[in-house]
Amino acid sequence: MLTGKKILVGVTGSIAAYKSAFLVRELIRLGADVRVVMTPASREFITPLTLSTLSKNPVAVDFVKPETNGQAGEWESHVELGLWADLFIIAPVSANTLSKMVTGQCDNLLMATYLSAKCPVWIAPAMDLDMYKHPSTQENLTKLTAQTIRVIDPTSGELASGLDGKGRMQEPEEIADQIDAWFNPASKLRGKKILITGGPTYEAIDPVRFIGNHSSGKTGVILADACANRGAEVLLITGPTQQRVKNPRVKVIAVTSADEMMKTVEQNWFDCTVGIYSAAVADYKPEFAAGEKIKKTDDRLTLNLVKNPDILKWAGLNKKKDQYLVGFALETENELENGTKKLVAKKLDLLVLNSLKDAGAGFGHDTNKVTFIKPNNKTATFELNEKTVLMNRLLDEIEHDL
Ligand code: PMT
Repeated sequence: MLTGKKILVGVTGSIAAYKSAFLVRELIRLGADVRVVMTPASREFITPLTLSTLSKNPVAVDFVKPETNGQAGEWESHVELGLWADLFIIAPVSANTLSKMVTGQCDNLLMATYLSAKCPVWIAPAMDLDMYKHPSTQENLTKLTAQTIRVIDPTSGELASGLDGKGRMQEPEEIADQIDAWFNPASKLRGKKILITGGPTYEAIDPVRFIGNHSSGKTGVILADACANRGAEVLLITGPTQQRVKNPRVKVIAVTSADEMMKTVEQNWFDCTVGIYSAAVADYKPEFAAGEKIKKTDDRLTLNLVKNPDILKWAGLNKKKDQYLVGFALETENELENGTKKLVAKKLDLLVLNSLKDAGAGFGHDTNKVTFIKPNNKTATFELNEKTVLMNRLLDEIEHDL
């Protein structure tokens, strides 16, 4: 996460300037405080209004604040901007701005800010392949690298000119990822594959009706987002939910029944280092799902239920040495005793216990009250708190154990 981090995004005149909107959005999503400084030329490619709306801050373009037109003597302070930032990323940086950075030519606000900045400066070049290959551009990049400026290499592919080659600005998600990794180098989850189950399962009675439960799927989505924010590669296998995953780094597979969830877990568990099974899986399903809607003819209707596969138990029995397995337990009585039994029976490294007896805990709420149980009866109980906070605390615990 980039919470509390101040990031200044510089935008220069390049077709890739549209990507800076996605970069700003991604940095905001990661919790950063974002401000934007643009060169006059970049306004031909993207409007300050777009970037101020996304960054939730006014965008700096001119030396004179536009609202005062210099009448009140109000100047845009490049010094203040340069000192404010924890990191200055110029994305895209054009060949023109690269050259100005080398010579110190200060003919716009972005350049004045660059020369005043005390923080690390990163650049993400974007230009046509021949401009990028040109010895002058390469020499400029070498000189800037020598000044400890970090260059995020462009990628190869189709360019705005229609030519194919190296010069495309790196994707905004990748840049944000690199910034996140730079500010949070310690996350052990970075690059790890994590499987998460979430939501309820629905077990069909007939084409209209099902047996289900009250899980909203919030916990699964929160976990998936939090893991992705730590740089993990996440697969969320979720039962029916209204929750939406906003993080592009999370792959979602939507399932309905326990059998479908089981099959998807079987296909993916062995590739993962960590599994967090938060789904509320129905323990039983109707032995047969009627092909047509059951008619209301008799006073009584008896459904024969059969056991569903225990997905978490299967994952525990098939766990490899280097895999870390987390299960959840939702109890209504003898919570600690029942939770501990599940930890042992399902061969878990950690169990997250929550109880329906606690107000504000369990299904549907944004909050929960949980106890972590680990082998050898080690427990840690947390007060009622936001699910986001508690699930991040869970990830800290997993990182500690890995
Ligand atoms: O989705 P929310 O509204 O945010 O609610 C979150 C939650 C209450 C669903 C979550 O915090 C939670 O407690 N999830 C587990 C609910 C549950 O089914 O508990 P259980 O004690 O019945 O199951 C124990 C564990 O075995 C769970 O990890 C469960 O995913 C797993 N299990 C259970 C049965 C089964 N057939 N297969 C399983 O894998």
